[in-house]
Amino acid sequence: MCGIAGYIGPRNGVEVVYDQLKRLEYRGYDSAGIAYPQNDRIEIVKRAGKLTELQKLLDEAPRDSRIAIAHSRWATHGGPTNENAHPHFDRLERIAVIHNGIIENYLDLREELLAKGHTFKSQTDTEVAAHVIGEEYTEGTPLEEAVRKGVQRLRGAYAMVVVSKLEPDKIVAARNASPLILGIGIDENMLASDIPALLPYTREVVILEEDTIATLTRQSVHITDLDGRELPLEPIHIDWDIAAAERGGYEHFMLKEIHEQPQVLRQALAGRIDEKNRVRLEQVFSEHVWTEIDRVNIIACGTAYHAGLMGKHLFEKLLRLPTDVYFSSEFRYGDPVLSPKSLAIFVSQSGETADTLAALRLCKSRRIRTLGVVNVIGSSIARECDRTIFTQAGPEISVASTKAYTAQVTVLTLLAMYIAQVQEMPGVRVSDAVAELVALSEKAEVCLKLEEQMIKLADKYKSMPLCFFLGRGADASVALEGALKLKEIAYIPTQESPAGEMKHGPLALVQPGVVAIFGSTDSETRDKVVSNMKEVQARGGTVIAIVTEDDAVTERAADEVIRIPHSKMDFLNALLTIIPMQLFAYHVARLKGCEIDQPRNLAKSVTVE
Ligand code: G6P
Repeated sequence: MCGIAGYIGPRNGVEVVYDQLKRLEYRGYDSAGIAYPQNDRIEIVKRAGKLTELQKLLDEAPRDSRIAIAHSRWATHGGPTNENAHPHFDRLERIAVIHNGIIENYLDLREELLAKGHTFKSQTDTEVAAHVIGEEYTEGTPLEEAVRKGVQRLRGAYAMVVVSKLEPDKIVAARNASPLILGIGIDENMLASDIPALLPYTREVVILEEDTIATLTRQSVHITDLDGRELPLEPIHIDWDIAAAERGGYEHFMLKEIHEQPQVLRQALAGRIDEKNRVRLEQVFSEHVWTEIDRVNIIACGTAYHAGLMGKHLFEKLLRLPTDVYFSSEFRYGDPVLSPKSLAIFVSQSGETADTLAALRLCKSRRIRTLGVVNVIGSSIARECDRTIFTQAGPEISVASTKAYTAQVTVLTLLAMYIAQVQEMPGVRVSDAVAELVALSEKAEVCLKLEEQMIKLADKYKSMPLCFFLGRGADASVALEGALKLKEIAYIPTQESPAGEMKHGPLALVQPGVVAIFGSTDSETRDKVVSNMKEVQARGGTVIAIVTEDDAVTERAADEVIRIPHSKMDFLNALLTIIPMQLFAYHVARLKGCEIDQPRNLAKSVTVE
């Protein structure tokens, strides 16, 4: 996600915040900027591109200030341009604001402000937030009070930092959902979105709680809640080295990203669901288009392809819309038959995968409607698709994809629900389904608590010669992704297929020592899956079953049982099983001493054909 930095103290604040942004570079960004109060005004220096571009501006005119805030942006609302880069001014240019997260009601607020005569220089939700806080910054209102009132008009996730030319001796920050860390120094104080940015300056930090406001001066730090009540300041001492701090204290980025999934599930829905649990995806084609489409082709590679398979289940089951899923490399050379009324969906984390991009260009040359489900804004696939829905998962650094997968499936689910809503599909209660989707984030938190159990299982089975991943329906699609995780990072051979296909060949590979992981979350096929488990056990294989907490049948058949929380939508239960599978793969690889974040022979973004 984006990076935030802020400093107040005796040093040159501009240099400090620039250095802090450099320490957050590993998270990925596409523009950057700095604001500092000086001579009764606020100076803003910002630029699209890497920090070196910003450095050129700073070299042209060196800046010096005892107080500064800075931001590196990973575009969400509006492309990566100079105008969209943070900081943003309020209407009267008295305050400058930087922000991480997504303001869900920014379109409504923007309209409200436009009607009052406000004008905006950018397409960002952040500039809208700056104008909202600016409106509250009336004469006699202290900055922290204006921020407190302003953020209460915002809905969504934010970590927000504000400086004012009228009160140039303080930085005010507000936090809800997006992380914000205060660094407590001697005669200086600072803040950042992530601990590594602070470590060269202080090791005493305060992790700001949700719904709090912090006011930093050179000599003091005050934290209050949204009602203005003072909260205690309780710094913790950080003794991680800088490399560990970049991973948020986790041993690897992969583990950090696995643990980010509850937040990612929330982010993927942010701004896309209204109070009545209706889906808002208005920017994605006009409504009549969705009633015209007669067929969907989902085209992707690797993990994104597996997410596409999950999409097919929903599009066909929920919408009765014929859907095919293709590997990009096969699609582009396969002379596909394309109905002129079809929709081609391109799923890609990076937005740069060469085969997916080539398949997209093929569809465009055939004048087929194209829709991207992409994580990286400004990427080639996002730019070239007719429309794109961003997965909003934040930068994914580990080669083995985890959080991008859950975000891709979530967005495809949301899209299916949106189409059901537009088409007024009989028998589909969109608001009930959306409520289940919203509840998924908390269930993902519960799945992460399975880690101790997965460590024990990883330890017990780490020497297995072969691991099967099996299931039926949506569980069979997740099985492919679970198997990919284990093979790509732990180098253990896997055999993945629908459980019903076992006896047509793969069963010949089962012998003592072989492990079979079954996802079994669909009550309709439960008995059949239990029979398949028995087939594995009868040949000496070990069965690990991942089931929902209400399943009292499968536990009697399996050797090991992993229980996940139950959702009323079977499909979402299947999606959740990926979390224990990811943890299992991760811990097997760790216990085997494998290079986890950069497995041998593989690359994060495959830009060659
Ligand atoms: C590579 C990565 C995978 C990813 C695949 C597709 O193989 O290692 O994690 O799923 O490319 O990448 P994309 O960026 O298009 O999702």
